[in-house]
Amino acid sequence: MSKDAKRILMTGAAGQIGSELVQALRGKHGSDSVVATDIIRPQGELTASGPFERLDVTDGPAVAELIRKYRIGTVYHMAALLSASGEKNPQKAWEVNMKGLHIVLEAARELGVARVFSPSSIAVFGPATPRERTPQDTVLDPTTIYGVTKAAGEMLCDYYVRKYGLDVRGCRYPGIVSHQTLPGGGTTDYAVAIYYEAVKFGRYTCFLREDTRLPMMYMPDCLKCALDLMEADFGRLRHHSNFNVTAMSFTAGELAAEIRRHIPSFVCEYVPDFRQEIADSWPASIDDGAAREEWGWKPDCDLAAMTADMLAVLGKRHAAGRLGA
Ligand code: SER
Repeated sequence: MSKDAKRILMTGAAGQIGSELVQALRGKHGSDSVVATDIIRPQGELTASGPFERLDVTDGPAVAELIRKYRIGTVYHMAALLSASGEKNPQKAWEVNMKGLHIVLEAARELGVARVFSPSSIAVFGPATPRERTPQDTVLDPTTIYGVTKAAGEMLCDYYVRKYGLDVRGCRYPGIVSHQTLPGGGTTDYAVAIYYEAVKFGRYTCFLREDTRLPMMYMPDCLKCALDLMEADFGRLRHHSNFNVTAMSFTAGELAAEIRRHIPSFVCEYVPDFRQEIADSWPASIDDGAAREEWGWKPDCDLAAMTADMLAVLGKRHAAGRLGA
């Protein structure tokens, strides 16, 4: 990259989405152009393939220092506590999710960062929100601290767009299914764990009821979503930080049935825990018409394609003895 080119900084880069988004961005812009940061220093590709810095997003001076040091032009702010972990420590979820976002937005404003990506979530919705084909502009009624921080975060991001002309963008991700980095502390995590357990043990005990339907997305679509939204023409965007996006919706039972098409002996049991109440407050399906219209969003993967791919990848890894105990 040229001396004057601006780099990308990502917070929460060791997480489920961040770890793959860093690689996609490094592939696109060059390894040195993407500075990965996280509160932990992971081993492996993330730290080996380009610059990595340990960063606590609640430390304002540290965030500003890295933005200056690396001449950052774009921030992907992925650091957050998810819904289930948030319920175990609401104070920490507020601190990381709200204070962290405010620090990133302030640093971006003060230091001339051109663009910020701040993902939101279906957790902004709640019991009073229409559950089927949840509209773009509707009741935000979160019941979890995670949802509260994401709803407030969307509004804060939009405030920075209006007040300061800062270019902040974000989408409301549904549950994300992937096979590189495990999700941590989410209510939709079952849809990842079920594949691992199916391959390793041929059975899985699900913490949600069989008939729980939630919107989901496979990682390639999740990455495409972030990259496309960040490249969209700002002038065409009427929304900024809160785009509904989805790729598919299925119940836990339908996912188990799809896995049985590949592993006929697979057994799934259902023992709901506290996460059931969270799932019951979220949409079953999403209307992502605004994202389609304003920046051409279109997912590629459905349940059948995702399941075939997940089982093929995890099956190979298991055969090579690399899927863990
Ligand atoms: N996957 C998240 C969670 O379950 C939702 O954004 O918390």
